[in-house]
Amino acid sequence: MLDIRNLEKVYGEGETSVHALQNINVSVKRGEFMLIVGSSGSGKSTLLNMIGLLDRPTNGSILIDGTDASTLNDNSLSSFRNSKLGFIFQFSNLLSDLTVLENVLLPRKIQGTLEGAEEEARALLRTVGLEAQVNKFANKISGGQAQRVAITRALINKPAIVLADEPTGNLDSISAETTVQLLKSLNKKLNQTFIIVTHDRPQFGDVDKIVTIKDGKIIEGELEASLA
Ligand SMILES: Nc1ncnc2c1ncn2[C@@H]1O[C@H](COP(=O)(O)OP(=O)(O)OP(=O)(O)O)[C@@H](O)[C@H]1O
Ligand SMILES: [Mg+2]
Repeated sequence: MLDIRNLEKVYGEGETSVHALQNINVSVKRGEFMLIVGSSGSGKSTLLNMIGLLDRPTNGSILIDGTDASTLNDNSLSSFRNSKLGFIFQFSNLLSDLTVLENVLLPRKIQGTLEGAEEEARALLRTVGLEAQVNKFANKISGGQAQRVAITRALINKPAIVLADEPTGNLDSISAETTVQLLKSLNKKLNQTFIIVTHDRPQFGDVDKIVTIKDGKIIEGELEASLA
């Protein structure tokens, strides 16, 4: 499903260059729930952005469903990204002058596949407990609710992989717990791969895989990390 081979990322050139990632090899199967952990500046977001095809690696390859992303030009890369990947960020990034429903439908509008989408959006919003908020404007709901809208928006294209960078980083502990449980139950229910960057590994309890990054390298296998 996802294969990362000898991935390397260098930012900048010459003396000021930063070797953000090196020698990264990871395989993730369909439906797995994987965490990326490590201290600040270790390279977590860089790795997630590489997997999300938001930035190109310096060396190495990323294969998603058998397609090597480095073989795609910028146009096919964007449409590949839109069809295969869903993103959740630390801040929900909703458009405040749109309703909850309209925000969720946005990726389908961009993709040109609005037909039947409203039914699906409403069903997903029900799953995340937001049926009562559907027609509210996005700036009139709580932070925890906004993050659930962002999760719904990430799922509406039925992506093969859902990527989240610190999805609970901006939430109080109760909303964070709700969000974690929601991500885990959606992962079970939808059989999509979830890859999540977090600095709070214990918050997630049991997961399928953990990648620990230190200074741009993977330092531990999943067993050691899960015992840590
Ligand atoms: N656009 C960029 N240009 C130059 N250097 C960058 C850029 N983005 C990240 N870096 C550097 O690459 C390294 C890894 O950064 P990254 O953002 O991946 O860390 P992180 O693990 O996500 O940290 P945090 O937990 O603080 O979010 C750091 O040394 C950072 O300064
Ligand atoms: Mg980061």
